[in-house]
Amino acid sequence: YEHGATGAEPRMYTEMLEQPASVERTLRGRLDERFGTAHLGGLGMDARELRAVQRVKILGCGSAYYAGQMGAQLIEELARVPADAEAASEFRYRDAVIDPDTLYVAVSQSGETVDTLLAVEEIRRKGGRVVGLVNVVGSAIARACDGGIYLHAGPETAVASTKAVTTMFVGFALLALQLGRVRDLSVADGKRLVAGLLRLPAQIEETLAGEERLAGIAKTLAQAESMFFVGRVRGYPVAREGAQKLKEISYRHAEAYQMSELKHGPLALISPAVPTVAVVPDDELADRNIGALHEIAARGGPLVVVTHDGVDLGELTAERIDVPRNEKELDPLLLTIPLQLVAYHAALTLGHDVDRPRNLAKSVTVE
Ligand code: G6P
Repeated sequence: YEHGATGAEPRMYTEMLEQPASVERTLRGRLDERFGTAHLGGLGMDARELRAVQRVKILGCGSAYYAGQMGAQLIEELARVPADAEAASEFRYRDAVIDPDTLYVAVSQSGETVDTLLAVEEIRRKGGRVVGLVNVVGSAIARACDGGIYLHAGPETAVASTKAVTTMFVGFALLALQLGRVRDLSVADGKRLVAGLLRLPAQIEETLAGEERLAGIAKTLAQAESMFFVGRVRGYPVAREGAQKLKEISYRHAEAYQMSELKHGPLALISPAVPTVAVVPDDELADRNIGALHEIAARGGPLVVVTHDGVDLGELTAERIDVPRNEKELDPLLLTIPLQLVAYHAALTLGHDVDRPRNLAKSVTVE
C-alpha cells in the first residue's frame, strides 16, 4: 500500500497490524479453560469481594471511554451486574455520589490522562474502590488505583488509538467473565466465551486482511464532508469509536448516533451527500437495524454496512463489510477493526499525516 508522502509506514498502521499479538498478550495466562473463567490476580479481590460488587462504573476519556461503554455492556451481559461508562472528564466535575458497593474501573492507555487520574483520586478520597485497566506499567493511574489489569498491548504511540482499544475490550471481557463466574454465569457459557476469546487473534488477522477493499470504501467516504456512524446497543459504542477515528485523522465531520434515535432528529440531514456507516451485527437486533437502514436509503443516503456474512440486506444498495463471526457478546471487537482501516485510508486519501493529527495530543496530562 501507498502509506503517504514519506512512503514509510505510519505508526498507526504498524500498531493496527500488531493487534492479534497484542490481544494474545492480554489473554496470556489469564484464561481458565476448564472452569470457563478468567483469573485477574492484579485486581486484588477474592471471590467474596467480587460477589459483593453491586454495580460497576467505568471511567475514561476519548477512545478509552468508548471501550468502556463496550465493557459496561459486556459486564451487564455476562455478570448481570448493572454497569455503565461515563467520560471521566465529566464525572470529575459533577460531585458524583460515590457508592461503597460500586466497583469503579478507570480505563486508560497511557495511564496519565489527567481527567481520569483526578476522577480516580476523587473516588478514593470518598472511600470508593477503583481498579485500573491500563496499558502503561507503573503509570500515574495504575499507581493511584487499588489494583488492576495491565493490557500488555505493547507501546502505542500513534494518537489514533487502535491496539489499546481492542485490548481494553479484551480486558473488560476478562473482568466480565470473572465477575460472571462467581455469580450466575454457567460453566457452559463461560467455556463458550473462553473459546471465543481464544479465536479472536486469528479473526482479527483475517479482518485486517480485508484492507484493500476497505481502502476503496474509504476513498469514496473521504469525499463526503459529513457522515453518520450508527449502531444499536452492542453496535453503538463501535459506531462512536469509528466516528472518533475518522474525525481525529481525516478531519471529516463524522457523527455517531444510536440507530433508533435517527428518526428523532438526524434523519433530517440524510441525503445523497451524507453517507452513513452502519454497524449491524447478526444479533437479535439485526431486523430492527435493517428497518432503520431502509429509512436512510429512502432518503438517498449512501450506506456502508459492517455486518456478518448471512445477514440479509434484501433490496438495500450498500457497500457491505463482513467480519468473522464470534460469540455475539464479543462482536464489538471485530466490528471495530474495519472502521480503523477505513479511517486510516480516508486520512491517507486526503493526504494527512495520520500520526500527527492537528490539535490533538496522545495523552492530555495537563489541565
Ligand atoms: C487523548 C487522545 C485519545 C485518547 C484519550 C485517552 O484525548 O487523543 O486518542 O483516547 O486521550 O487517552 P488514555 O491514554 O487515557 O487512554
